[in-house]
Amino acid sequence: RPRVLSGIQPTSDSFHLGNYLGAVRNWVQMQETHDCFYCVVDLHAITAGHDPEALRRRTRVSAAQLLAVGIDPDASTLFVQSQVPEHAQLAWVLSCITGYGEASRMTQFKDKSAKGGVDRSSVGLFTYPILQAADILLYQADAVPVGEDQRQHLELSRDLAQRFNNAFGKVFTVPAPYIVRETAKIYDLQDPTAKMSKSASSPTGIIDLLDEPNRSAKKIRSAVTDTGREIVFDQANKPGVSNLLTIYSALSGRSIDELTTAYDGKGYGDLKKDLGAVVADFVAPIQKATHAYLDDPAELDRVLAIGAEKARRVAGATLAAAYDRLGFLPTV
Ligand code: TYM
Repeated sequence: RPRVLSGIQPTSDSFHLGNYLGAVRNWVQMQETHDCFYCVVDLHAITAGHDPEALRRRTRVSAAQLLAVGIDPDASTLFVQSQVPEHAQLAWVLSCITGYGEASRMTQFKDKSAKGGVDRSSVGLFTYPILQAADILLYQADAVPVGEDQRQHLELSRDLAQRFNNAFGKVFTVPAPYIVRETAKIYDLQDPTAKMSKSASSPTGIIDLLDEPNRSAKKIRSAVTDTGREIVFDQANKPGVSNLLTIYSALSGRSIDELTTAYDGKGYGDLKKDLGAVVADFVAPIQKATHAYLDDPAELDRVLAIGAEKARRVAGATLAAAYDRLGFLPTV
């Protein structure tokens, strides 16, 4: 079976619909066809200042949500990044074959450092994509299911794998992004030209999976829609309505064509009301299951410990091969 690795940051108390539809939903599906490694990337979550208690809580909440949406810890390897020390170890090696200019061109760093200025950004924020490459390459991943915003980071991972292999001999599989076009970018409900993001300025544009259903329905009702009244999919001219249709279609399994036919002659209000109900039905069992996992943190930690052990076997073998090629003495 082809190998998959992907990761998600524990930087908020809930995943949002962009995380779910852009990435995690595909993680669940790929369990049928791939050998999967899924990782809560807590090392990535400390690049811009954080609260330790919140990180601990969010790491568990993230793992619980992954289990709740259908990641099966017996079929997949589900683990927490910091519990597998090889990630940080390989990241150092990869940082030594990454060009400074190359790292400087990462748009996510440029965007995130623009806010406070480069001088106030951490070196960790700068080298973030190198750690991400280590995550992927340690598991010899063939495919990496992510949203559109991760495309450039995956390009770097591919370049680093090839560069290492060419310089020192083949150790790494060159990974390919797995990005599902229809849901690759879910947009903010209040600003349907910006992606739905944990770091958005206002929570009203974001639907969290663990949001109270009434709150989500309200956010959908107040979503920015477009001039005109027709319910059609038109990304360029009607980004608001198109985003609602994308979300509706993905959660209900009904095609966009089917939806636009069904809503022919109806108004935005009808669409929003029904989508609010679809979201409420969708999140209810996820919330219930998430809370059940969180009610037993010892069991959750046990599942993650088993995952970390499985992950270390694979990561350790890859790191040992890389160290050997680099000329390091055998580990004692
Ligand atoms: P993160 O935690 O920001 O997001 C997790 C996943 O959700 C996707 N995503 C979206 N997809 C569609 N529309 C949106 N509005 C949207 N917002 C987020 C992201 O593309 C991502 O797939 N750098 C990664 C974490 C990471 C990783 C890795 C991913 C670390 N190591 C190794 C893959 C492989 C990130 O920040 O994801």
